[in-house]
Amino acid sequence: MSAQILDGKAVAAEIREKVAAQVAALKSGHGLTPGLAVVLVGEDPASQVYVRNKKRQTVEAGMNSFEHVLDAGTGQDELLALIDRLNNDPAVHGILVQLPLPGQLDEDLVINAINPAKDVDGFHLENVGRLSTGQDSLVPCTPAGCRILARRALGDLTGKEAVIVGRSNIVGKPLAQLLLADNCTVTIAHSRTRNLADVCRRADILVAAVGRAELVRGDWVKPGACVIDVGINRIDAGNGKTRLIGDVAFDEAKEVAGSITPVPGGVGPMTIALLLANTLTAACAANGLPAPTLS
Ligand code: GUN
Repeated sequence: MSAQILDGKAVAAEIREKVAAQVAALKSGHGLTPGLAVVLVGEDPASQVYVRNKKRQTVEAGMNSFEHVLDAGTGQDELLALIDRLNNDPAVHGILVQLPLPGQLDEDLVINAINPAKDVDGFHLENVGRLSTGQDSLVPCTPAGCRILARRALGDLTGKEAVIVGRSNIVGKPLAQLLLADNCTVTIAHSRTRNLADVCRRADILVAAVGRAELVRGDWVKPGACVIDVGINRIDAGNGKTRLIGDVAFDEAKEVAGSITPVPGGVGPMTIALLLANTLTAACAANGLPAPTLS
């Protein structure tokens, strides 16, 4: 039997609609328009696409979008000066510095220069620490999107075996914290994990976030498992064109899994929806208003 397809595009649209409704209420009730500043350094084509999409969806949700495009040779001091200005600008409630940064820039230093209350990526050490100790924090967007999709598929996640393949700071590690908070038993696997296929076969929730096209095969999936594919790999389609595929061999896995996210149209659209939600949350917090409920 073929798995239920987890339609991230539709769930993301639902979240964006709720965000837009609450933004409209904030504007009319409090004269407050949430603002998101996105900083892009250099001309990485994939990053340019992401930033363009973020801008469009921010404006569609009724928020202010502030875009700062700096050239690839920008120095550390110039970038830190911009972040300082954004930290002190009351119209800016969220700041996102698109990663990766060019090699001359120190990513850790830059991320930790962002005011944690405006850190809508949830990458600042303070937010990482708060998340891992169970305190309220701004939560990284892609992991938050993965958890919503897993909850939609399985309901209460208590007691589920979760295996996350990939240990990045952006996805693997924060997602482990989120699933732990939902009472899962969590394993983080990675490129050095022994018997990776066997480890994956234990999972009720199997998340692939390694950036290796179709690494996870159908026979790595436990029958009925929820499979969440975070990978976005552009491959040659053979006809002079390219296409996107995930870290999971979808056609194989969908015959075994209970539910599975497609690529594209699964986790990808959730990331920007959760970014908008975080910006709304940050704007509310900055103005002493309660956090919105969106999922
Ligand atoms: N590059 C890839 N994913 C992300 C993300 O979630 N946030 C930022 N800032 N950069 C990224």
